[in-house]
Amino acid sequence: MKNYLTIRELLKNEQSLEEEISNFSWRWQKYLKNTSLSITYKFPIQYFEAEFKALTAYFLPEMYWPTILKKKKSFSSLKDFWSFLPAELQGHLNWELPEWIRIISFLASPTKMGTQADRYPEMYDIISPYLDQGFKLLDIGCGTGQGTCALFQKLSRQFHTFELTGRTLEALDVYWAQKQINYSYPKFEYPKVIPNYKQKLLFEQQDILDFDEKERWDLIICNGLLWGPAMNENKSKYVLNLMLNGLKENAYIYLENDFHEGFQYPNLNDLIFDFPIKVVLQKGGKAFIQKSKLPSI
Ligand SMILES: C[S@@+](CC[C@H](N)C(=O)[O-])C[C@H]1O[C@@H](n2cnc3c(N)ncnc32)[C@H](O)[C@@H]1O
Repeated sequence: MKNYLTIRELLKNEQSLEEEISNFSWRWQKYLKNTSLSITYKFPIQYFEAEFKALTAYFLPEMYWPTILKKKKSFSSLKDFWSFLPAELQGHLNWELPEWIRIISFLASPTKMGTQADRYPEMYDIISPYLDQGFKLLDIGCGTGQGTCALFQKLSRQFHTFELTGRTLEALDVYWAQKQINYSYPKFEYPKVIPNYKQKLLFEQQDILDFDEKERWDLIICNGLLWGPAMNENKSKYVLNLMLNGLKENAYIYLENDFHEGFQYPNLNDLIFDFPIKVVLQKGGKAFIQKSKLPSI
């Protein structure tokens, strides 16, 4: 099993995650104190870095380490490492879990803004007439979940009972979404939402290529994933088929890609051509489709 999948278990039990991080942090902090080594050149930075990266891999699959962790071959010293951290977290190693999340958010992508999308409210106008009380809605590739929360906010004003689940690849994103905190830029607040046992909001880590549910969902939305850099044509078709299998009969899929030149080439018709669906709406980078019979694949 790939390393990063084990985070599922850790996220379910925050205490064990906390223990893992705290063992790491305190052990290295103690090392720093006991040895009183010059931090500039004697600290065994390569061992520290290897362990740090292994822990980080719980949160970020390697292909999604877009910036510092990937580009920088290695840190030359602890001082060098600290220089990449937010100022308030430099100079020590005994970080608490939220600080640790902030550090890897920064190192993974200092520019990571979260998905502060106005797209979701607009999508709400399209999908909400097709939803009935009690619906189950899945958001695939929800990223940091700010858009999912914005959608939840709108839905919760209209529907008293429903379940909205966001799934995405990076456990780090799941963590942000569950906490509703933007760890790179805490001042960018999430839409305020308070789920309850009737209006449920869940965030889970999953590689959509592992999706294998059958006839469970009333609506699946997927924004900025199909036709993006993570999904070529074959993968996009494969995933669309998985989604159709996951839908109840006559249920809906909303696809959108306003990112990455989405749906321009090959165009959406190429994507949906082979599938048993009805097109409810298709406009620019948006497609709202209905499953019309069981997929044949
Ligand atoms: C461009 S972002 C869009 C985020 C959000 N849906 C929005 O519209 O703001 C695409 C997201 O899909 C996630 N992703 C990429 N490959 C994935 C996969 N195989 N399974 C699940 N999510 C994936 C990425 O990590 C990223 O968060």
